[in-house]
Amino acid sequence: MPFDFYSEFDSPATVDAIAGAIRSGGHAVHLVEADEQLPAWLLAHPVDAVFNIAEGARGGHRESYVPAILESLDIPFTGSSSTTLALALNKARTKQLLACEGIPTPAWQVFRAADAPRNPALQFPLIVKPNREGSAKGILRESVVHDDASLRRQIHRVMGQYHQDVLVEEFIEGVELTVGVLGNGEPQVLPMLEIDFSSCQGSGEFFYSWRMKEYQGDVALGLTPTFHCPARLSPELTAGIQALVLRAHRALGCRDVSRTDVRLRRDGVPFVLEVNPLPGLDPTESNLPIMTAAAGIPYPALINRLVEMAVGRHRVAPPQELCSSQLAASRNAP
Ligand SMILES: Nc1ncnc2c1ncn2[C@@H]1O[C@H](COP(=O)(O)OP(=O)(O)OP(=O)(O)O)[C@@H](O)[C@H]1O
Ligand SMILES: [Mg+2]
Repeated sequence: MPFDFYSEFDSPATVDAIAGAIRSGGHAVHLVEADEQLPAWLLAHPVDAVFNIAEGARGGHRESYVPAILESLDIPFTGSSSTTLALALNKARTKQLLACEGIPTPAWQVFRAADAPRNPALQFPLIVKPNREGSAKGILRESVVHDDASLRRQIHRVMGQYHQDVLVEEFIEGVELTVGVLGNGEPQVLPMLEIDFSSCQGSGEFFYSWRMKEYQGDVALGLTPTFHCPARLSPELTAGIQALVLRAHRALGCRDVSRTDVRLRRDGVPFVLEVNPLPGLDPTESNLPIMTAAAGIPYPALINRLVEMAVGRHRVAPPQELCSSQLAASRNAP
């Protein structure tokens, strides 16, 4: 099992924060593990809605299992459908869709075999990533490569550790941005978050690597990126990137909330790296709550707005058997 196996799972503190926020909205909450027992639990405990934070334990479609169960039982839940979650977990498929929509994304190649020939059109430096992971799993400083020998070493490493296709992309030097979208119909694009790694020079890490995400804020390790929200960009550039992100959110069919990662190349061209329809909700460390706070939405209000969106879908056609006043928070913490 790779050393970063548990990185995607939410901490008990995050689960508690979400549950506390829902209770403060006047609801009852059950914490339910998102495991094989979940369907039986749901059948035995009628609930009004599920607050879904389940990353899924295994497999290339793991984020869509809980939503698929809820869809089949006709139970409303927060966030995107099983289809969107499965699609977004596959970075290469997402990039194909973005490219079809004319949304810039770094040039890429998928390696299914470590010795497959490299597309000569790809320009070094390149970054080597597992195709279906999140939380920067498998993405290390060494993942950015400048020559063919290092590229092969990294492809071997990722295949050996994660047993899946490897995504190789042109590495975009420039500003790191992440952009939240909240709501449906005419969703709100949140103030953009710029993550500046220039204060992390001593650590040797220079982008949002696994170490940077895992030990973010560790002064001794020098992993102390600076956050700027809103990003330090002109109003014109800001509006352009926000519009691009909204197109990406819609292209993937995201619902309620998403967080899209963008790299702004030095010449001013923004590239969408990926779309996260299940963004982290750690109240102190995750990027999305920073952006909602900058938009004047405190953490409990964010959580309850997500609950309302789920329950609102339910109200459109309320099934008779789902009338309890309870809410279930699905939980997938180790
Ligand atoms: N093509 C690229 N050019 C520049 N930087 C990149 C590129 N791809 C990835 N990165 C860097 O690596 C980080 C993690 O990559 P990516 O967002 O694809 O992985 P992830 O594991 O899905 O992340 P998340 O934690 O958001 O789920 C990015 O935030 C960025 O700093
Ligand atoms: Mg990302």
